[in-house]
Amino acid sequence: MSSALDATMRRHFATVASRYRELRTTDPQPVQIIVGLLRLLPHVVATDVGCGAGRYDALLLRGMGDRTFLHCIDSNEHMLGELKRHLNPQHSGCFETVLGQAGALPLKSETQDAVLTFNAVHHFPLKAFLEESLRVMKPGGYLLVYTRFRGQNERNVWGRYFPQFTDKEARLFEGDELSEAIVGVEGLTLESVIPFHYRRESRLERLVEQAVSHHYSTFSLYSEGEFQEALVQFENNVRRRFGSGPVSYYDENSLVIARKERRSKGGWRAPRVV
Ligand SMILES: C[S@@+](CC[C@H](N)C(=O)[O-])C[C@H]1O[C@@H](n2cnc3c(N)ncnc32)[C@H](O)[C@@H]1O
Repeated sequence: MSSALDATMRRHFATVASRYRELRTTDPQPVQIIVGLLRLLPHVVATDVGCGAGRYDALLLRGMGDRTFLHCIDSNEHMLGELKRHLNPQHSGCFETVLGQAGALPLKSETQDAVLTFNAVHHFPLKAFLEESLRVMKPGGYLLVYTRFRGQNERNVWGRYFPQFTDKEARLFEGDELSEAIVGVEGLTLESVIPFHYRRESRLERLVEQAVSHHYSTFSLYSEGEFQEALVQFENNVRRRFGSGPVSYYDENSLVIARKERRSKGGWRAPRVV
């Protein structure tokens, strides 16, 4: 990431932190799958990288109960402050916040049953994040990446009706890019990619409020003039399509499930088939 983009994102997340949970839609479905995957472990130590204001950590801790300890890692201290307020006191003792970078995880090697990340992987240096995830996971540990792919982004309400949204958002991965990057890290195995298709219904006023508040960081990539012009066009596009009634659309996301290979006692690993 260039240092100008890095500074824009730091400013963006600092500004949006206090309203982040309220502005975004939180999906319980991937968390149910994750809780199901981890349910057989007697105690789970996991990390959520790019945890933001903790909306997914609250769901995870509720689903897993107190047999879990979560390291909540983010590079933005404002997000971590919001997370702490959100999770305390109900979940105190079950999590810690850690200021850190996805490309250099501040965790000891082979300590995590799972590395999770929600809506954040496109902000990370991918190769370094995957290698760090491999390092910190125990053998057999899960890497769980919830994200929207570029094609999925093009089909949501912003991709369809908000001018330049998909051109500005060049950071998202396509499914095969992410899968190939995972398969390219020796010691990680790709298990599955689960697509999600959510039917949403909203109002134009709510959508405008979300865009103006920059609920997606993509909006911080517009200049002020570009943004205002695009917003007017968006309102016209939505009115033309939906009139003054409810706005219905689909959001799509994917959960990528990978695992750290288990080594045999002698350290032998099955050769990688290319
Ligand atoms: C789109 S938000 C998602 C937050 C949260 N996972 C959620 O879904 O609500 C992305 C988060 O990743 C964090 N982030 C961006 N780059 C990062 C990096 N290199 N290392 C750690 N966190 C990072 C941002 O500060 C922000 O809180």
